[in-house]
Amino acid sequence: MSERPGDADEREQAIGESGEPPVPDAESSPGSGEPAQAGAEVAGDGGGAGAAEAVAHPGVTETDAVQIPEAHEVDVPDDLRAEIEEIMGRYPQKRSASIPTLWAIQRRYGWCTPEGIRQGAAVMGVTAAYLESVASFYDLFHLSPAGHHRVLVCTNISCWMRGGDELLESFCAAAGADPEAAAHGGAVSADGEIYVSGFECLGACDLAPMASIDERYYGPLDGDDAEAAVASVKAGSEVLPEKAMAIRPAAGGPDGEPDAHVAG
Ligand code: FES
Repeated sequence: MSERPGDADEREQAIGESGEPPVPDAESSPGSGEPAQAGAEVAGDGGGAGAAEAVAHPGVTETDAVQIPEAHEVDVPDDLRAEIEEIMGRYPQKRSASIPTLWAIQRRYGWCTPEGIRQGAAVMGVTAAYLESVASFYDLFHLSPAGHHRVLVCTNISCWMRGGDELLESFCAAAGADPEAAAHGGAVSADGEIYVSGFECLGACDLAPMASIDERYYGPLDGDDAEAAVASVKAGSEVLPEKAMAIRPAAGGPDGEPDAHVAG
């Protein structure tokens, strides 16, 4: 399922760092803010498709998936633990922290690794199956290796009419990724560094043709921009500063003022 963020305030990230995860279960009943006992977790998380996927995931045993990891059994990097705890502090319901926690895991490891999910689950006091079921719902979370940088090229109608398909091919050529695979689910560059994928409307049609590069929006782009962007990503330098949505004036804002929601 593709996300279609419609809120202008949120469109810099196709999934914002808020919002309730889509997987209801017994533990998420209203008023439940504390971890359930392991047995209740099994009942709550074990019956959904997400749990089944989690159990089937390499590296996640059935026992690991359906029980809340004991905090002392999981070695969580201090900075990751602190980040997740800070995220949890923003919400009255711990499960509301699932999506930003998954972002933190993916940023750290490049994808939502089984161990990363287990670490997040241990800090949050939920099962790994629950976190993985949330991750599996969204295209933007990866449950297999997907490079350290992500380029999503919009190929929906507005961008397609302005060369979105050709732009995707340009990014693939620059990154060394298979264009056919990129157009059908995504492809990782030969060096394993950059994930390139076509994507349905990213909600920034006024930038057409545009792309999301490491969760920042850029456009309008051409083939030369694709080459320059990939070179910058590989070099760790600033990507296409003149094409960044963050520098565009905000609608209704003072002339020339970048959009405060996305700048920086
Ligand atoms: S068609 Fe909407 S962002 Fe490309």
